[in-house]
Amino acid sequence: MAYVIGVDCGTSGTKTVLFDESGNVIASHTVEYPMYQPKNGYAEQDPADWENAMVETIKAVMAKSGVKKEDVKGIGISGQMHGLVMLDKNNKVLRNSIIWCDQRTAAQVSWMNENIGEKKLIEITANPALTGWTAAKILWVKDNEPEIFEKCRHILLPKDYLRFILTGEYATEVSDASGMQLLDVPGRKWSSELCEKMGIDMSLLGKVYESCEITGVLTGKMAEALGLEKGTPVVGGAGDNAAAAVGTGVVEDGKAFTTIGTSGVVFAHTSSISIDPKGRVHTCCAAVPGSWHVMGVTQGAGLSLKWFRDNFCSAEKETAKLMGVDEYYLMDKEAETIPVGADRLLYLPYLMGERTPHLDPDARGVFFGLSAMHTKKHMLRAVLEGVSYSLRDCVEVFREMNISVSDMMACGGGGSSPLWRSMLADLYDCPVKTVASKEGPALGVALLATVGAGIYSSVPEACKAVIKTDKIQQPTAENVPVYEKYYRLYTQLYPALKEQYKTLGSI
Ligand code: XUL
Repeated sequence: MAYVIGVDCGTSGTKTVLFDESGNVIASHTVEYPMYQPKNGYAEQDPADWENAMVETIKAVMAKSGVKKEDVKGIGISGQMHGLVMLDKNNKVLRNSIIWCDQRTAAQVSWMNENIGEKKLIEITANPALTGWTAAKILWVKDNEPEIFEKCRHILLPKDYLRFILTGEYATEVSDASGMQLLDVPGRKWSSELCEKMGIDMSLLGKVYESCEITGVLTGKMAEALGLEKGTPVVGGAGDNAAAAVGTGVVEDGKAFTTIGTSGVVFAHTSSISIDPKGRVHTCCAAVPGSWHVMGVTQGAGLSLKWFRDNFCSAEKETAKLMGVDEYYLMDKEAETIPVGADRLLYLPYLMGERTPHLDPDARGVFFGLSAMHTKKHMLRAVLEGVSYSLRDCVEVFREMNISVSDMMACGGGGSSPLWRSMLADLYDCPVKTVASKEGPALGVALLATVGAGIYSSVPEACKAVIKTDKIQQPTAENVPVYEKYYRLYTQLYPALKEQYKTLGSI
């Protein structure tokens, strides 16, 4: 039997899973780490935390499983997209990584729009200039920390930094590179024109591969540290969303998924490139060679619920510990006791600004309609519903773009909540399925590794062999019109607050 490893470097932690070639989980291990917010709108992480978490989790799955190291045929890496890792000439990390949900780069985005042009940016990168994407972060360092920019010799994405640790190669792959805003997304290669216009030397960037290609092999030093075989191939892997697509079998037209992790994403596969002229959803290269995907992103999805848990639910945490159940399970049970619409309480999940459909780094969270009759449970339900309204916003954009979705999966931590899935089914007014494996991105990149190792001949073939549909959540007929009324009201709240968000940001 052959085995493969999938590493997923997320925002709350890194999860590593060892699978057999049929996609069965043999062992899994997660290590968490902090996110630093030195200012309102800033978000950073320490790449050393990712590295330590990867080493610890790979060692743990090998030790737990007892699998022989020579039977591990490949490694795939997935991770949070857009984060900026800068290395100096000695491969030393120059500063903390500015990660995907950081919103400090409004001035750099304006510069890109004025000096490169909105039309040109969309033509080359398939996306408008975005505050959270890597190019704007590089320009921010250039403008604000020129001494660091001077010393920088290599620019890597979070998971590509881990690849460097494993293999010593400076490389990336098309799906994650699409989120740097330096890639010619239709052509699947770096754009020399954009790099030149932004003053970013192309030698700083890694070599671009397709996601299932082998990008390097495990060095002797790392093999020894991890308990693996020297020379084990490491494939391109994928950004977390493109990886989740493979892990849920979303690799052909008509298929889509919603993932609720720290961010929330609605993602659809497209065999030909499709771009929203209004820039509300992203278009990126898919992990399937020769195809693309569109995705709408809500910045504060699981993040909203985690924020609520950490600030208001210490009692639930205690009780969950005593009962031996997950805290989120208990919170779901509490939210279930409140009616649809939370007795007229709405929540806007814009804790870290927003992307789809309102590209606005200044947007912030709101509870709207708070009454003295509302309880903490109402607020909890409103948070779950507010995130779901925001995901419905993404589906609305797809509908406008004529991207047909006939098959919707749910995944990520939030996707495992039956209550959250039922809200999505009611708001999308379509069935929402889950797949048997809950490993999403880790399984996705492990499958890419099976293709790189020659176990399967293509990504769709690997998915066909491994991915099995599990539960199907149908919409509840009587909830659909009620949610529709709340959703319509929800869509009116951001436009009503847009100017005030700007004022708030300027204080
Ligand atoms: C996608 C995005 C997030 C991150 C973190 O554009 O920013 O989904 O990848 O998970």
